Amino acid sequence: MRTTHAFIRAKRLHKKWVMLTAYDAPTAELLESAGVDLILVGDSLGMVVLGYSSTVDVTMDEMIHHAKAVRRGAKKSFIVADMPLKGLEKGPRQALGSAKRFINEAGCDAVKVEWGSRALKITDLLIKNKIPVMGHIGLTPQTAGKKGGFKVQGQKAEQAAKIFEQALLLEKHKVFSVLLECVPRPLAKMITQSLKIPTIGIGAGPFCDGQVLVFNDIVGLFKKFHPRFVKKYVDADALMRKAVLKYKEDVLRGRFPIAKHSFSMKQEELLKFHKLSLRGVTK
Ligand code: KIV
Repeated sequence: MRTTHAFIRAKRLHKKWVMLTAYDAPTAELLESAGVDLILVGDSLGMVVLGYSSTVDVTMDEMIHHAKAVRRGAKKSFIVADMPLKGLEKGPRQALGSAKRFINEAGCDAVKVEWGSRALKITDLLIKNKIPVMGHIGLTPQTAGKKGGFKVQGQKAEQAAKIFEQALLLEKHKVFSVLLECVPRPLAKMITQSLKIPTIGIGAGPFCDGQVLVFNDIVGLFKKFHPRFVKKYVDADALMRKAVLKYKEDVLRGRFPIAKHSFSMKQEELLKFHKLSLRGVTK
């Protein structure tokens, strides 16, 4: 049984937890076999896989389609699904319907809700319906356009105090964890020390209880921009481009396919086939 208790216990034991995004079955399988603690089906799906210019365009059906694939690839992992803007913008009732789809249709274990005017009402209703919720504060991409774009949040004291207050409120409203995106290290430290539930950071420095990054960023498969907080471990894009160019060359020069990539036929079957085709059986 996958429950949120283990993560809350982990905080007491000072264990760091590791989270990455996944949007398909092979990646999910890879993360599960590498021992990643949590998989996030992020609405970053829209930008890194579906080619939208922002996360706000992602639909619930698209999220469900990919969340199902992630569950098929990672049968045992704790999977958190991101509630896309289109799945909650009409209010708590709509959000409950969307969250139930993630749990019942896609087999996810929890949902993540970005901070916004109705985040607490939505959180209350989901938790009342036994759906675990992860809060998300600091830089919240679904509303970043209205808040002056994608930049660090909480560098001014008043703004830091607001984010701190949001973290306390979320804990009071019983979320199992709070994701802190793009906030200064001292603020993340203060929040992490003040909460009993774990914090998970992205661009929030080393003091959080866990860290999350977008899978496509760490393997170099998202080229449009490169946030400062991302560490790229491999340039998979360059490796894949090389492979495609080599394949193209091989096909054009007749180096692929060769005998070992194709199939033979027994001589007697071939002779029989020639006879049949001469008699016009295949017409
Ligand atoms: O959608 C996403 O991938 C996220 C991360 C930025 C944590 O919310």
